[in-house]
Amino acid sequence: MKMVESPKGWTFRESRSRSLVKSLVYRIVSIVGTGILTWSISRDVTEAISITASIQVFLAILYYSSERIWNRVNWGKQHPMQVAPSSEPLMNEISCRPIGFIRSPFKEPTGTPIQSLAARDVEGTVEIDPKYADGLRDIDGFSHLILIYHCHLCRKPSLLVKPFLDNQTRGVFATRAPARPNPIGVSIVRLVRVEGTRLHIKDMDVVDGTPLLDIKPYVPEFDIAESDKIGWYKGNLAKLYEAKDDGRFSRR
Ligand SMILES: C[S@@+](CC[C@H](N)C(=O)[O-])C[C@H]1O[C@@H](n2cnc3c(N)ncnc32)[C@H](O)[C@@H]1O
Repeated sequence: MKMVESPKGWTFRESRSRSLVKSLVYRIVSIVGTGILTWSISRDVTEAISITASIQVFLAILYYSSERIWNRVNWGKQHPMQVAPSSEPLMNEISCRPIGFIRSPFKEPTGTPIQSLAARDVEGTVEIDPKYADGLRDIDGFSHLILIYHCHLCRKPSLLVKPFLDNQTRGVFATRAPARPNPIGVSIVRLVRVEGTRLHIKDMDVVDGTPLLDIKPYVPEFDIAESDKIGWYKGNLAKLYEAKDDGRFSRR
């Protein structure tokens, strides 16, 4: 079984091999069923076989065309994974549910450090919904975690922004500004201790009450890339430790 998300949250969907086996079983049952039925009516084996074959061809055409019509009519209403032919773009909404909330000493964006590197030793916690407790198994083996969260206090998104570390306008995707079309923030934080479903964290640069979408273990072997260009950040990084959020992207 496979997990897929739907507008109502996460649901289970059958694996491809399982649904193939199921449709094969249906097909065999349907062929044998119509075969027996037509033979019991006509009592002629050749006639029963030819009628069964015609019925099966008709059913296959009906099934194939009704599925295509259904997908066209419902395009955009169902989850893209269920309806999108591979060539069409996945432009539907995706809904996520928080797996927990981030607690920090920063009660509003204004005054919050702008990266975890500049929030050295600032303590906070990550409170995970107990229903996800099993997902925390083995997490205490990692010194750092990647938190992925929804910047819920952001104003409406801007495609052009003046980032905290610069006074020139930049394309939002060339910045880490939180007011993005999908206001998702990423922070690499230190894991100090795990206490049930509460994770004690250091280097917290996130606002108190922020909904947490995901946690991933930080693995330097995966997460450090040998980059040789850092765009406009070059020459602006010295301001990182003094710069604080001044509320330019937030609602309050
Ligand atoms: C420049 S953004 C970078 C966020 C993240 N480290 C990243 O790179 O994706 C940092 C600012 O986001 C702001 N922020 C954090 N949590 C927020 C929230 N829930 N809503 C709005 N802004 C938030 C903080 O004020 C912080 O200074």
